[in-house]
Amino acid sequence: MKLWGGRFEKTTDALVEDFHSSIRFDQRLYKQDILGSIAHAKMLGSVGVITEDEATQLIEGLQGILAEIQAGSVEFEIGAEDIHMNVEKLLTEKIGPTGKKLHTGRSRNDQVALDLRLYLREEIDQTKTYVGNLVQTLLNIAQEHLETWMPGYTHLQKAQPITLAHHLMAYSQMFLRDLGRLNDTRKRLNVSPLGSGAMAGTTFPLDREKVAGDLGFDGVTLNSLDGVSDRDFALEFLAGASILMMHLSRLCEELVLWSSGEFQFISMDDGYSTGSSIMPQKKNPDVAELVRGKTGRVYGDLVALLTVMKGLPLAYNKDMQEDKEQVFDAVDTLQKCLIVVEPMLRTMQVHKDAMAWGAKGGFTNATDLADYLAKKGVPFREAHELVGRIVLHCTKKGIGLEELALSDYQALSPVFDQDLFAAIGIEHCVRARKLIGGPSPETVAQGIQISHETLKQL
Ligand code: ARG
Repeated sequence: MKLWGGRFEKTTDALVEDFHSSIRFDQRLYKQDILGSIAHAKMLGSVGVITEDEATQLIEGLQGILAEIQAGSVEFEIGAEDIHMNVEKLLTEKIGPTGKKLHTGRSRNDQVALDLRLYLREEIDQTKTYVGNLVQTLLNIAQEHLETWMPGYTHLQKAQPITLAHHLMAYSQMFLRDLGRLNDTRKRLNVSPLGSGAMAGTTFPLDREKVAGDLGFDGVTLNSLDGVSDRDFALEFLAGASILMMHLSRLCEELVLWSSGEFQFISMDDGYSTGSSIMPQKKNPDVAELVRGKTGRVYGDLVALLTVMKGLPLAYNKDMQEDKEQVFDAVDTLQKCLIVVEPMLRTMQVHKDAMAWGAKGGFTNATDLADYLAKKGVPFREAHELVGRIVLHCTKKGIGLEELALSDYQALSPVFDQDLFAAIGIEHCVRARKLIGGPSPETVAQGIQISHETLKQL
């Protein structure tokens, strides 16, 4: 017998039973569902909608079911549709007719909205721990490589010399912003929808604030239609998760490039690489590639839920049952990626010489040569033009700017002097960039300190 079976003359078709049941995936919400029900039952007792004794029976029954589910001794039923009705059915089987009072003044519509908020709140906190660990590792590696010179790129063409610390600190800033986004989402989702009922609230004198307080919410939703039909909090999480995955993916893409034979900037630890079934020499950065690939899944989750929600009239519609698998998949994927990227980074080997060698070629000091002239009074645009011609000349001769003789320089402009060679030394180019946000070792060291503080506050 269905919990809603009263107005039906026929049983549900077996195909429909299977089609609309969500217990296969929403059983994951059992803890949130039961904790929500316990808070609801407690409040029903305290406001006198049921007796205190009935409330106690409900609460004890629910606690027993929670323990049984955790012990693995409960078999959920597809016929009982979802986690909400499975728990209610188990409760009535366990404590008898009093179990049938649990759902007073409540609907599965506000119940499921509650469960998903509770679930995401917990997973956001867990995700924040993983992101925090990753930031910590980035800061640690950066601290060790303040003077590991490497080329910086634009258009994947060598641009200007920087350090590995500077490069990795860019990612630490992205992940710190991601933590901020997770905090924002958590703050907005932390209101209780219980008491919204099916969509128009309830005539029972429920104490919404009490239930909200018991469940750790900062307040209650202000409109019962919105309370049951809002999934912004899930979408915000998915959007934040997508941006986070995009950052992970960009980082992984660089690790894939850097570990290639062409770059040889890093070697992945054997524990975080895999081989080929045919080519015996291969050591592939599969982990980084897979993180890059899994980014697509999380974007898919976001777009899927946005699409589910876009045409829905108020208030609850069954379409919204499709929210859970997207959210669960995004949580699982994101957390797995975060967990694996941190040690992969921590264990990678950095080839300082290859990086430093890369920093030298490709005229990465050309801007500094133009700046040298500008500092001696040549208008920058003219200096740019002149250095461009010198680069062309050196390219044809197959030499770097530092290998051109002073007499050749002076033939092009009398402004050039012996001190130009110090100005275009790679180390000098990096050390001289001391503005906040720049690559000089002291600036980056300060950035690391500030980021440690920021991390503590997030
Ligand atoms: N399993 C449903 C869901 O996940 C719970 C709410 C069902 N409400 C309803 N009126 N059918 O959305």
